[in-house]
Amino acid sequence: MQNQERTYNTAQILLHWAIAALIIFNYFVSEGMGRAFHQHLDDSNTGYGLVSSLHVYVGLAIIALVVIRIIVRLASRKSKRDSQNLLDKISHIIHEILYLLMFLVPVFGAIAWYLGIHFMGDVHEIAMNIMMTLVLLHAAAALFHQYVLKDGTLLKMLGQK
Ligand code: HEM
Repeated sequence: MQNQERTYNTAQILLHWAIAALIIFNYFVSEGMGRAFHQHLDDSNTGYGLVSSLHVYVGLAIIALVVIRIIVRLASRKSKRDSQNLLDKISHIIHEILYLLMFLVPVFGAIAWYLGIHFMGDVHEIAMNIMMTLVLLHAAAALFHQYVLKDGTLLKMLGQK
């Protein structure tokens, strides 16, 4: 979304959509996590129902995929972007914050769950709300580029450009 010239390789495209799908999955498969977490805080062998197990293990998979994605991104980085306008700069900053939150949200959840730190559950939920707001903003910007500016940004992330 920052640069007209920018394209994505197959690994970046697959990772983008896999992580997006798993984050949305975990957002919705979280019903009763608060209750499960409190049981788990009382006795670390309990709290593993179907939903909480899915939430925890899908969340751990997200951490692994985000780490791979950051490595692939750094390895695929092309020459420095020059002549960025203000909107490009804002979109660049939002992307960097999104990368950070995609990593930190599940890490905060894992710290809460595995180290039994109640407070980190709240931090996990606050960070998750900020991340989902940015995800919505990011999706709206992608649609704006595709359908209003008609610059093919979305097609690049679908591997068609
Ligand atoms: C990007 C990945 C993740 C997303 C989008 C996500 C999303 C959510 C959401 C929406 C809730 C609120 C549930 C409610 O309202 O009852 C929640 C709670 C929780 N999640 Fe996650 N989660 C993720 C990863 C993880 C991971 C990896 C773990 C642990 C290994 C985890 C552990 C928890 C715990 C313990 C709670 C309860 C917190 C509390 O009630 O204080 N989450 N998560």
